[in-house]
Amino acid sequence: MFAINIRFRLLFFLLSILPGCSFSQLFTNPLIIPPLLTGTNFTLAFAPSTHQFYPGIITSTYGINGDYLGPTLLFNKGDSVHLSVLNNLSEVTSCHWHGLHVPAESDGGPHSPINPGDNWYAHFKVMNNAATYWYHPHMHMTTQPQVTAGLSGMIIIKDSSESLLNLPRTYGSDDFPVIIQDRKYSISGQFLSNGLGDSVLINGTAYAFLDCPKQMVRLRLLNGSNARVYNIGFSDQRNFNVIGGDGGLLSQPYTTNRLLLSNGERAEILVDFTNDIVGNQIVMMSYASEMANNVPGAITGAMGGNGPLEAVDFNLFQLNVISQTVNPVTTIPSTLISQNSWNPADADRTRNKIITGMGSVNGMGNFLINNSSFNHFVFNDTVQLNDIEIWNVTNNSNMAHPIHLHDVQFYILNRNGTSPTPEESGLKDVFLVSPNETVSLITRFEDFANDSVPYMYHCHNLAHEDMGMMLQFIVVNNTSGVEDFHLASENIQAYPNPSMDFWHVKAAIQMPDDAVMEMLDFHGQKISIDLQFREHEFMIDNTGLSKGIYFLKISSKSGIFIGKLVKT
Ligand code: C2O
Ligand code: CU
Ligand code: CU
Repeated sequence: MFAINIRFRLLFFLLSILPGCSFSQLFTNPLIIPPLLTGTNFTLAFAPSTHQFYPGIITSTYGINGDYLGPTLLFNKGDSVHLSVLNNLSEVTSCHWHGLHVPAESDGGPHSPINPGDNWYAHFKVMNNAATYWYHPHMHMTTQPQVTAGLSGMIIIKDSSESLLNLPRTYGSDDFPVIIQDRKYSISGQFLSNGLGDSVLINGTAYAFLDCPKQMVRLRLLNGSNARVYNIGFSDQRNFNVIGGDGGLLSQPYTTNRLLLSNGERAEILVDFTNDIVGNQIVMMSYASEMANNVPGAITGAMGGNGPLEAVDFNLFQLNVISQTVNPVTTIPSTLISQNSWNPADADRTRNKIITGMGSVNGMGNFLINNSSFNHFVFNDTVQLNDIEIWNVTNNSNMAHPIHLHDVQFYILNRNGTSPTPEESGLKDVFLVSPNETVSLITRFEDFANDSVPYMYHCHNLAHEDMGMMLQFIVVNNTSGVEDFHLASENIQAYPNPSMDFWHVKAAIQMPDDAVMEMLDFHGQKISIDLQFREHEFMIDNTGLSKGIYFLKISSKSGIFIGKLVKT
């Protein structure tokens, strides 16, 4: 066993760093194409499994309707979709629809936990434009380990404007999902939940090759990695055409030979094989040696990593040219989709978000957003429904962070005052912000208001997110008038706290008549426990609770109080 493990580690180390030559022996596994689910009813089951990424090495995984990763979900804009998510894991999880404009209660963030054995139902109208999105779990502090184990999948949205364009769109034939992940393994071949990995999986395939017909091929790139940023290019330095970003197609194709893709970002590219000879082999690479040295994947040493993929150019997968399909697309449309950004002059509000801290790519350190870190019960920002807002995100920390907002798609106004580059000129939901850089974005918070369920905004480096580099906003409808009320925490006290047998809770004020009291666990899930306020005080018997952090939540139409209780 020991010898196999050593050989295994050496093998993927050597193969992953070898640059160009004799590709064909390296790429031995056909790229796995996740099954495509269509229609309006979708059933997903999260469950533990195992998978052989390398021959003879059995790796424990989590899968969605399978061993590793999940099916690709195809939605049509305008459809009402019903999704059922079954949690067959032995831990709590959630399922977030990354990039989708959905009601907060359907967003699948940390406020929508799915207990082991439970089903969660999400129902929403598909409102986003045709583009590539994805889904993944989103519980505070367990997102990285759960995504590492294999919980992620792609979402493709189609709409009538995209359908009018002459683009490749036959899934698995000339239109391919490309989920890029790196993984780190233990000596026995088990996943380690680390920021940076030491080897590459594409759609869960190690050393993948893909047969590409001799025509225009559409690749839907998703950086589904924990921390690594990729600098996409091809081994023969050919140009490719970026046609879309996170939330939609661009106004016109952008021709380039490099594309930076940070965590959670998507890009659709067209690669032209029309003039290739059948049998040609081209490798998609990450030219990480060309990335700025504060970008995760380029950073080495204490702040970064010391694995074989850091700051070097390495292989992602191989594309083998095969003969044309019937009715091939061989040209690129000159224009795509017109953009309707908002006018900064119409902004109702500007928010400034300052990232500070020092830390490592792998999640050590203390990165903060406006001096705050995640608290399940603190809504850091209150947004008025239908407001147009500008957010200026400034990075005063030591490394680049991929910042993501839920609920909305936005346009980047500028980076340090300079207009965005063409690949960033469409709708987006993630952007990389480098040290000493301010990225300004504009968006409108339309359609969904909810006084009690927030949306997240956070760093999509999963280790950073799990350590608390995530804050929350609620979208409120002005007219409902709930925004400004708070039961003052000084008015309610609990003692002893920490406690091993009971908490004595005492209020200095009269509880509102409509007050509802609940005990919540660390994940915000309700615990059944007897809570009856008598006069101004009551006792909570905690002898039946396991050690840990709990929250007492008192809500009424005049506000919400949340107090932290510790059971020892
Ligand atoms: Cu990809 Cu908060 O999510
Ligand atoms: Cu998201
Ligand atoms: Cu970060």
